[in-house]
Amino acid sequence: MPGPATAPPPKDLFEHRLLFVTGKGGVGKTTVAAALGLAAAHAGLRTIVCELDARERLHSLFNVSTRGFEEVELAPDLSAIAIDPEHAIEEYLLLQIKVRPVYDMLFKNRVFDYFAAATPGLAELVTIGKVWELAQPDRLTKKTKPYDLVIVDAPATGHALAMLEAPETFKKIARVGPIHRQAGYIQSFLHDPATTAIVAVATAEEMPVNETLDLRRELIARVGLDIALTVVNALEPEYFTAKEIGILRKEDQIAPIEAAVLQSERSVRQAEQYERLAKELKRPVIDLPFLYEKSIGRQELNELADKLSSDLAEQLERVAK
Ligand SMILES: Nc1ncnc2c1ncn2[C@@H]1O[C@H](COP(=O)(O)OP(=O)(O)O)[C@@H](O)[C@H]1O
Ligand SMILES: [Mg+2]
Repeated sequence: MPGPATAPPPKDLFEHRLLFVTGKGGVGKTTVAAALGLAAAHAGLRTIVCELDARERLHSLFNVSTRGFEEVELAPDLSAIAIDPEHAIEEYLLLQIKVRPVYDMLFKNRVFDYFAAATPGLAELVTIGKVWELAQPDRLTKKTKPYDLVIVDAPATGHALAMLEAPETFKKIARVGPIHRQAGYIQSFLHDPATTAIVAVATAEEMPVNETLDLRRELIARVGLDIALTVVNALEPEYFTAKEIGILRKEDQIAPIEAAVLQSERSVRQAEQYERLAKELKRPVIDLPFLYEKSIGRQELNELADKLSSDLAEQLERVAK
C-alpha cells in the first residue's frame, strides 16, 4: 500500500504534466476540464484534453468534428482526443509487436478481444497508459509535437479511482517482464504529486460535497495522492442580502418574486455546503458561477477559463506572501 499523502509543496497547477479531473456524475467535469484546457492554452501551454467517455462531446463545445482516437485541434494550443480502450490496446500492441504480419494475424482472429475480456482492469490500464504516453516529452507515437499539459476528463469518482490504481494492480499480476515495467513507469508518473494533480469538481450540494470528501479519503488511502484543487462549479450568485430576501418574502408571491426568493434560498443553501466543504477539505478551492445561458459554448467556456486563470494566479500570490 502506498503511504499517506504528504501535502505537496504549493505549486502552480499548470506546472504539473497531468491534471486528472474527477467528481460526481453531472457536476461539470467535462465543462471544467475544457475550461482548464482553455486557461492553460491561454497561458501559452500546449495542452490536450482527453475524453475517456465516448458519449462526451467535448469537441462539439468548440464546433469541431473528430474521428475518435485522433488528436484534433480545438483552439490555438488546445487539442482534444477521445480515448477508448479498443483503440488504446490496438495502438499499444502495434508498438509492442514489431512484426506486422504477426499483429495482423492476431488482430484478424480477434485474439485481442478475448485477451481484453479475460483480463479485468486491462481497459483501464491501456486507457491510462495512453494518457501517460500523451504526457511524455518524448512521445512513443511520434505523430505530433509533445504537449506541455495533459488534462483528463476522467470518469466519476469510483471508476476514476480504479483507473488510478490500474498500474499497481497490473504490476502485481505481471510480476516481471515488459508489462510489469511499463505499469511501473505509469504508476510512478501518476502517483507523483509533482507531475500529476487531482482536480475534484463538485457542486455546492450535500451529495457532491460528501463524495468529494470521500474521494479525498480514498485517494490518500489507495493512491497516496491528495486533491490538489477543488472546483465548486455552478455556484448560484448571491444577488440579495438576507434583509432584501426578507422584504421579498413579505411581497405577494407573483412569479418573478417567487423566482427571486427560490434562487436566493438556493444560494444560501449552497453557501452552507461550500463552507462545509472548504472547512473539512482544508485544500485550495475555486468556484465557478452558474451560467444562465441556454447552453455552454465557446464564449461561456472562455468566461469560465478567465475566472479559473485569475483565481489560480491569486492563490499563487497568496502562497508566495
Ligand atoms: N457553470 C455552469 N453553469 C451552467 N451550466 C453548467 C455549468 N457547468 C456545467 N453546466 C451544464 O451542466 C451539464 C453537466 O455538465 P458536464 O460538464 O457535462 O458534467 P459532467 O461531465 O460532470 O457530467 C451540462 O449541460 C453543462 O452544460
Ligand atoms: Mg462529462
